[in-house]
Amino acid sequence: MLSGRRILLVVAGGIAAYKTLELIRRLRERGASVRALLTPAGAQFVTPLSLAALSGDKVYSELFDLNDEAEMGHIQLSRDADLVVVAPATADIMAKLATGRADDLASTALLATDKPVLMAPAMNVRMWEHPATRSNLETLKRRATRFVGPNQGDMACGEYGYGRMAEPAEILAAIEAQFHAAGRLTGRRALVTSGPTFEALDPVRFLGNRSSGRQGHAVAAALAAAGAETTLVTGPVALPDPPGVATLHVETAEEMLAACREALPVEIAVCAAAVADWRPVRTAEQKLKKGDGSQIPEIALQPNPDILASLSRSGPQRPRLVVGFAAETEKLVDHARAKLTAKGCDWILANDVSPASGTFGGDETTIHLVEAAGVEAWPRLRKQAVADRLVQRIAETLDASPTSKTLSEGVAE
Ligand code: CTP
Repeated sequence: MLSGRRILLVVAGGIAAYKTLELIRRLRERGASVRALLTPAGAQFVTPLSLAALSGDKVYSELFDLNDEAEMGHIQLSRDADLVVVAPATADIMAKLATGRADDLASTALLATDKPVLMAPAMNVRMWEHPATRSNLETLKRRATRFVGPNQGDMACGEYGYGRMAEPAEILAAIEAQFHAAGRLTGRRALVTSGPTFEALDPVRFLGNRSSGRQGHAVAAALAAAGAETTLVTGPVALPDPPGVATLHVETAEEMLAACREALPVEIAVCAAAVADWRPVRTAEQKLKKGDGSQIPEIALQPNPDILASLSRSGPQRPRLVVGFAAETEKLVDHARAKLTAKGCDWILANDVSPASGTFGGDETTIHLVEAAGVEAWPRLRKQAVADRLVQRIAETLDASPTSKTLSEGVAE
């Protein structure tokens, strides 16, 4: 429920604005109050009258409307909300906020607000994929703007790809997650591993993998957004450090383990890193030379430490809740159960990466949360939504379990 929550809804110009009407209806059904701010471009797609009728409130659109300013100044407008939602968020409004422009009421309100901002982008696929939009997106994410969507599909312009605004139900879920999570983990400490590890063969070559770190970084950001004091230990990735998270950069599995140990004690540990299972027995001090090509080096490998298993080992430093991920192509739950037992963690989030699942290379995934007590199947979700749901589940579990015990002790009793 969203009883008493005040939402400032910025409606920018896009055909998806018609879906925003449905969003307002659903928000109000759940007890939220909605104040709509309609940009001039937005008014080409939905009328102020529809917005006013559905929100039950006046609709704001002009920056220097003397009547509006007398009733409610434009700064006040953005401060009087608990959350600012931009739906649809156009490339233009993202660009304005990323660059700090304030030349109309919507951009001024966004710049002036001290409240969380959630954007639901909607635009042509080429605009979404343009480097300028990508860079604005990264900037905004770094400054803690949250995003829901866009989704992939057919577009009004006749093209296919990412750019469709998320459905009202998804935006609603993101809004609820935002309120649910806020402050629920305040006072708790969390540790997250993310990204790949690189194991050096010589000063220029390494063994590594293609992990992007997106899932782990999203989990760290969501934990921090829920108030947890969060440390992220990440291998080499092309992502910015998540806002509000103490981020430590490492290369190898051994460095990752050492950094994790330094971060203890924590109550929550989430291992999302794709740690290399092996490392070369020897790292050459100088670059290995190809010579005349007749000598092909044989690389002897040795096992790397298992960070998840190490953190799960019982002892005074064991976090209360240790969570691992598992990517499987077959027998998802069986393999996840085996990992749960072998590593001694509390939960495994098992991820179906079989070619049939369509997960590989995509942004959406289907998770099964496997724990000693059973298996929970989650719907198909984006990585950000997986992170939000995981954090919600963590908060509920820690609230419910006794403080002095680890979760597995609690389960075994
Ligand atoms: N993990 C870890 N340290 C390792 C290997 C894995 O912390 N050296 C963690 C991962 O972060 C993940 C979980 O263990 O949370 C499962 O990783 P995965 O690669 O799926 O499992 P493996 O143990 O490597 O088993 P396999 O490759 O045989 O599936």
